[in-house]
Amino acid sequence: MSEDGYKGPAITADVTRDLYPNGRENVYILDVAAGTGMVGERLIKHGFVKVDALDPSQGMLDEAREKGVYQKFICAYFDGKEQNIPPDTYDAVVICGGCTNMHLPCDCLREVVRLVKPGGYFVMATRPFHLTTVDEYKGRFENLIDQIESEGKWTKIRKDTVPGYHGEHEGIVFVYKIN
Ligand SMILES: C[S@@+](CC[C@H](N)C(=O)[O-])C[C@H]1O[C@@H](n2cnc3c(N)ncnc32)[C@H](O)[C@@H]1O
Repeated sequence: MSEDGYKGPAITADVTRDLYPNGRENVYILDVAAGTGMVGERLIKHGFVKVDALDPSQGMLDEAREKGVYQKFICAYFDGKEQNIPPDTYDAVVICGGCTNMHLPCDCLREVVRLVKPGGYFVMATRPFHLTTVDEYKGRFENLIDQIESEGKWTKIRKDTVPGYHGEHEGIVFVYKIN
């Protein structure tokens, strides 16, 4: 996909880098919907060291393993149910390209809140097109993000569109700080 002008992983990794000007080697990250590891590859180039990959496809995880960038490989659906991971485990959860048709359900946002330590971050990138056209997301995804914020569980740091996310298509980047 990178040869197809897919900049999502680079955008996601750059946004995460900018949240941590120092001490990236101590930041523990879960890359949800890691796929073949394109986000992890870029995080490591930015100086992050402790990155786990979660994806329901063992084939994808096997490819990601070959990149030599992840610590743990979790073969599971991120489907809103509790993962077999203790609360407040990660400093950040990143999701790039996970919100498309037939992928992550909205409910998984609450699991992000459970997994990230207070003071940590949720970083997500996708095409806004998916959020407005996929039945699971339209009228729900951004409302749930706002609802979680109104419950005081996280605080918006940024939510904005970025050009050139995938070819000529723009992306949308969400960054929330867990309270
Ligand atoms: C478009 S790829 C994105 C991969 C990578 N993050 C990137 O941006 O290059 C979407 C990935 O989401 C995974 N996926 C689909 N449903 C999922 C779910 N419920 N939980 C976690 N990952 C899921 C797929 O297996 C696939 O690897």
